[in-house]
Amino acid sequence: MIPDIDDVAPALREWFDDRRRDLPWRRDSDPYRVLVSEVMLQQTRVEAVVPYYERWMTRFPTLVALADAGLDDVLGEWEGLGYYSRARNLHATARIVRDSAGGVIPDSVAGLRALPGVGEYTAGAVASIAFGRPEPAVDGNARRVLSRLFDLEAPRAAELRERARTLVPADRPGDFNQALMELGATICRPRAPRCVECPLAAWCLARLRGTVGARPGPASRPPVPFFDLGVAVVVSPQGRALMVRRPEDGMLARLWEFPGRTVAAGEPPASAAARAIATLVPDAEPLRPLTTISHAYSHRRHVYHACLFETPRETRPRPRDLARAGWTAAAWERPDPAGRALPAAQRRIARALASLVPC
Ligand code: ADE
Repeated sequence: MIPDIDDVAPALREWFDDRRRDLPWRRDSDPYRVLVSEVMLQQTRVEAVVPYYERWMTRFPTLVALADAGLDDVLGEWEGLGYYSRARNLHATARIVRDSAGGVIPDSVAGLRALPGVGEYTAGAVASIAFGRPEPAVDGNARRVLSRLFDLEAPRAAELRERARTLVPADRPGDFNQALMELGATICRPRAPRCVECPLAAWCLARLRGTVGARPGPASRPPVPFFDLGVAVVVSPQGRALMVRRPEDGMLARLWEFPGRTVAAGEPPASAAARAIATLVPDAEPLRPLTTISHAYSHRRHVYHACLFETPRETRPRPRDLARAGWTAAAWERPDPAGRALPAAQRRIARALASLVPC
């Protein structure tokens, strides 16, 4: 018996009505608020998102407030959530909607998909939650629930979406999608799923066949490349450190960092760090290692070897040297500066520095 809408949708709805978590973005279905929450929830757990979402809504309460804000302020509010292209895309989306769509967020999957950074999942989530359209929205948690419900070993995203589409009810489709995600997060967990508490247990094909533990099968991921970086933390007699801004595009675009370079084969990290600042602060002298920070990005892993340097004066790097080295701006900053957006690993280096240098 294939699980179908007449069984699954009411059972899930009853469970959700009873058990739904009180989350700040569930208090109304304003499209802007739904869009922000769904973008924040991409690749990030609910518990981590809640405080960011609340701060964000205080700072940028409407789409126009976000569109009117500068990108640096937006990146600053996003700091710590990771995957910064999400913040840049959200900001770009706000400006597009403000300027060309009369301030109204599109209500169809096709219209939403045309916005920067809005993929199938986010479009389905916003269309169903904010606009009541019966569209599927399959995130990682829903993927696991559906793989088990239909007993699928290695389903493609498009296949899962079509399976989900057969189940989404016309009445309260947004609640259905959120219930599926919530079930995956709290009951149908990757390990030790709590099948005895599951409202869908009666129709779950994997449970019937004893394959729950093996569904979905492991995702085949290519091995993640690994890089060592030497990072120069150059401190002036005033207790400030040199920071530089990354380019407008690419990984961690526009965020601030301590200058660094990838360590070449056989090279000591301090030497890579020295290379990073050779033209920017020629009179800097190496002191000692400061800290080592390991950070996993979605597609690569970095180990940052931060090395302390001292310099007798706060040299202002020449724009040409800065541009050649690949940065767009430089500043002498207090340790652990609050007013600039730093990637998580750089913030940890900044904190290590702040614990040394009295503010
Ligand atoms: N994950 C992504 N979107 C979600 C939502 N609206 N509720 C719960 N978990 C989610």
